[in-house]
Amino acid sequence: MNIIDELQEIYKEAEDLISNVKKESQLDDTKNLFIGKKGKLSLISKKMGNLDIEERKQVGQKINEISENLEKLIIIKRDSIKDEELNLLLEREKFDVLQPRKHRESGTLHPITSVQMEVEDIFVSMGFEVMDGPEIETDYNNFEALNFTEDHPARDMQDTFYTDDGNLLRTHTSAIQVRALKILKPPFRIIAPGRVFRYEEIDASHENTFNQVEGMVVGKNISVANLTYTMNQLLSQIFNKETIVRLRPGYFPFVEPGFELDFQCMVCEGKGCSVCKHSGWVELLPCGLIHPNVLKFAGLDPEIWTGFAFGLGLDRLVMMRYGISDIRYFNSGNLRFLKKFL
Ligand code: PHE
Repeated sequence: MNIIDELQEIYKEAEDLISNVKKESQLDDTKNLFIGKKGKLSLISKKMGNLDIEERKQVGQKINEISENLEKLIIIKRDSIKDEELNLLLEREKFDVLQPRKHRESGTLHPITSVQMEVEDIFVSMGFEVMDGPEIETDYNNFEALNFTEDHPARDMQDTFYTDDGNLLRTHTSAIQVRALKILKPPFRIIAPGRVFRYEEIDASHENTFNQVEGMVVGKNISVANLTYTMNQLLSQIFNKETIVRLRPGYFPFVEPGFELDFQCMVCEGKGCSVCKHSGWVELLPCGLIHPNVLKFAGLDPEIWTGFAFGLGLDRLVMMRYGISDIRYFNSGNLRFLKKFL
């Protein structure tokens, strides 16, 4: 067989192999077998030494022609393999958007959110408006306008995350009191739920990110009696039972007098049990009458206007409501915990 015929045979063989290839990796093997350094075409070109010039030219041309054609065939084959793979994938992943799913997993509200909504409803039914405020606050709104001067030791009660530009993550929703006083004309009643942040060591009862509901009423002749009545309403609706509250003195620079409000333990009705640590009382929230300086900061005359404010710790309320023992569950994203509230 002369060399040209031999080359023709090789070409046919390669063509056959290429057309039968199924995978891209096989295509590379086939390419090496024919046009690689040790491929069949280069073996033939080694035989060219024995040929005369005219034949050598012809054979050389043929080899070039064959290898160019084979390259082209390989490119075409590679494209068609890729197309086929894509079609297969599309076929496999095809689904009918209109077909109803057999069973649908739906999410649910986080227990904090659902109790917050309940608290909002209770206060709205008493004529309160719900207000919002930003999580990044100015030092002025979070501290200064609430009667914490720059070097006030009460700032140490709230370890704070500061931002590089001198602002801070609000340590309490009381910052919204300042915003309310700026925007609203008294008399008014607001609650302001929101996330708050403190640079805390985390344990079963402390989180760095937790939730409060601020309450604020400004009007004429507002007294501590209005405050305790409002809190009694809240508790009896949340726990579906009549409650008794008591006040102990508490200190916050923006209330005077300031209190800690407790309610009588509902488990033992004040007799003493493990829930109330045998005291008969459960601590609910800090509160008080608005400090005259806070009203003055907002341009209100404390001789005319008075008010009360409270800061409800929502996490604690939810924990009491559902008997949750560890505050860290709330932000854990633990589905086993969350599924209890489906
Ligand atoms: N903002 C206070 C805190 O987070 C609580 C508070 C609110 C106290 C309103 C009195 C009145 O500690």
